[in-house]
Amino acid sequence: MARKPILAGNWKMHGSTAEATALAGGLAASVGAHEDRGVILAPPFTALATVLQAVRGTRIVVAAQNMHFEDKGAFTGEISPAMLADLGVDHVILGHSERRELFGENDEVVNKKVTSALAHGMTAILCVGETLAQRDAGDTLNVIGRQVEGGLRGVGADQADRVILAYEPVWAIGTGRVATPEQAQEVHAAIRSTLGRLGLPGDDIAILYGGSVKPDNVDGLMACADIDGALVGGASLDVESFTRIVDFQ
Ligand code: PGA
Repeated sequence: MARKPILAGNWKMHGSTAEATALAGGLAASVGAHEDRGVILAPPFTALATVLQAVRGTRIVVAAQNMHFEDKGAFTGEISPAMLADLGVDHVILGHSERRELFGENDEVVNKKVTSALAHGMTAILCVGETLAQRDAGDTLNVIGRQVEGGLRGVGADQADRVILAYEPVWAIGTGRVATPEQAQEVHAAIRSTLGRLGLPGDDIAILYGGSVKPDNVDGLMACADIDGALVGGASLDVESFTRIVDFQ
């Protein structure tokens, strides 16, 4: 099965509903009809409904940036998979490094979220990535291997068509310091073989690169054999720049 490129925009904690409508509407017009590549937008929770409305009738998919693993309960401030499903959201980013670093999520919690998302029929976009200290210590592939294995524990091959991986080196996120295509390719290839070791169809699972992806570096990254797409933060907040990224050469 050929892997279709996927370009995902992670808007993080940015945007009023009016700004989200304008951004999603602009992208609906520019890239909403693409069939040869997938486009995913991940607005903040408060703009999910508005963005779903703005992309209705296009091929753009809307994702949440996080969720709790339980369906309901006394979890103040949390959003459940059932609530996302109720809105019509069936994709979710999980284990982003900002969740891990700033909100204390570890592989065990991330794994509960991944298995919950899959059990609810959602597609999980599992993020992994090493810190600069871990890279400098030569530990990158170990760290990534642990995160992939930990995050996907209990996930079966029959669920693999709803798993997307995102390799996002922490030192490249929001820093303007992008991994070289060679650095990214090395890790992507390692992730693919880890997936195989876990009994998952690694060749069919999309692995996105994230970390300072911009219009001027996306083409080089997308030329790598094991890079199937991009998870884009800052450059996804502008119609022109994200359109150029989606329309990579
Ligand atoms: P960035 O963020 O493109 O702003 O570096 C990427 C991400 O965190 O997903």
